[in-house]
Amino acid sequence: MAAAFDPSDLPAERRDRYARLADEIAAVVEGEVDEVARMATVAAMLKAAFDHYFWAGFYRVDPKRPEELMIGPYQGTLGCLRIAFGRGVCGRAAIDKQTIIVADVDAFADHIACDPRSKSEIVVPVLDACGRLIAVFDVDASERGAFGQADREGLEAILSRTFAA
Ligand code: SME
Repeated sequence: MAAAFDPSDLPAERRDRYARLADEIAAVVEGEVDEVARMATVAAMLKAAFDHYFWAGFYRVDPKRPEELMIGPYQGTLGCLRIAFGRGVCGRAAIDKQTIIVADVDAFADHIACDPRSKSEIVVPVLDACGRLIAVFDVDASERGAFGQADREGLEAILSRTFAA
């Protein structure tokens, strides 16, 4: 049984908060090998920890349709179920295997609007220990320009520690 998680105990500064969360998440998922269980934990802890997160969750690569993402564990309003590789911000990040930050979703031509309240987003590819893409992690904010370098580095570190270690 994991120790209680209280986001009000986390440091206020965004980089420090991600660094502490990396340790907290690692402690909670220690010994858990199931990917979906780990994803659910990451989404729940990050969403609880940051006020600028409106929606946070995973789109997993469908093993039956390897060019398609399907909804995985998430926190927030109803998400779209499937996204083809190359479509939207998630599908672009899946093809490029690169993090994408979109400061204004209305300025991203192929953005997929699952909830019209989303105004900016960050999508981080999730790789396993062999470097294979297993999912993307998508965070949306209801404010424009909500994500920056601290989010990119913080999320990339947490996701690689949780899924590629
Ligand atoms: N906006 C994403 C789709 C996923 S939802 O925002 C939850 C995209 O363009 O890929």
